[in-house]
Amino acid sequence: MTNKYTYFIANWKMFGNLKTLNSLNNVITFVKKFKKNKIKLIYCPPSTLLSPLNNKLKSTSIDLGAQNCHQGDSYGANTGQINSHMIKAVGAKYVILGHSENRELGENDSLINLKIKNSIKSGLKIIFCIGESLNQKRKKQTKKVLSNQISQGLKKIRNKKNIIIAYEPIWAIGSGLIPKGTEIFEIIKFIKKKVRGSKVLYGGSVNIKNINTLKKIHNVDGFLIGGASQNSKKFIDIIKKTFN
Ligand code: 13P
Repeated sequence: MTNKYTYFIANWKMFGNLKTLNSLNNVITFVKKFKKNKIKLIYCPPSTLLSPLNNKLKSTSIDLGAQNCHQGDSYGANTGQINSHMIKAVGAKYVILGHSENRELGENDSLINLKIKNSIKSGLKIIFCIGESLNQKRKKQTKKVLSNQISQGLKKIRNKKNIIIAYEPIWAIGSGLIPKGTEIFEIIKFIKKKVRGSKVLYGGSVNIKNINTLKKIHNVDGFLIGGASQNSKKFIDIIKKTFN
């Protein structure tokens, strides 16, 4: 890890309720005792939990993020949507954009680009997800795919200092599979060359077993964690193991 601190971002996806938030008490206690300058923890719950979680995280060093937002810059008649101003107003500092699960629902690069631009204008930091499918990997198209996602997604965004890139191979998400350490190293190097100065995270099946391999990849700035972040004990164990 080349960085001052390592990111651990919990993406709860479509899981969790008010009761689940109690399980975070462990994490809050753990973080208070842990070397603060070593980690940056961010929780991204479903939008129903943004406000209660914001209350819970007040006076902790843990930050809050949303999982997506509408592309619009203003308020409007968009049933079921929330905009980046609303996310900022609820106390969140981050928003995940470009996640493959939303790309699968039809989000394309230009829509993601608009979301990123307007979220930056609202003062949010972006966790920008990119990644290739298994088919693309087999055809050796990974770099080409990532390169396109980056140039389209970050089109006309000059100041990229509030953008963190998360490399999440689609085939690794929720599958228990991860790329080889050397492959991740190569890809992260490629991304950092393309977006100079960027922080790049790895995401996709990060768990207590593979963190030993993942933590040895020196250019990874942290992890975006789905399944394993929903269990506080597992999440804490992953963080502990990263520094052991
Ligand atoms: P898993 O950790 O469950 O594979 O999910 C990764 C992910 O999609 C995080 O955004």
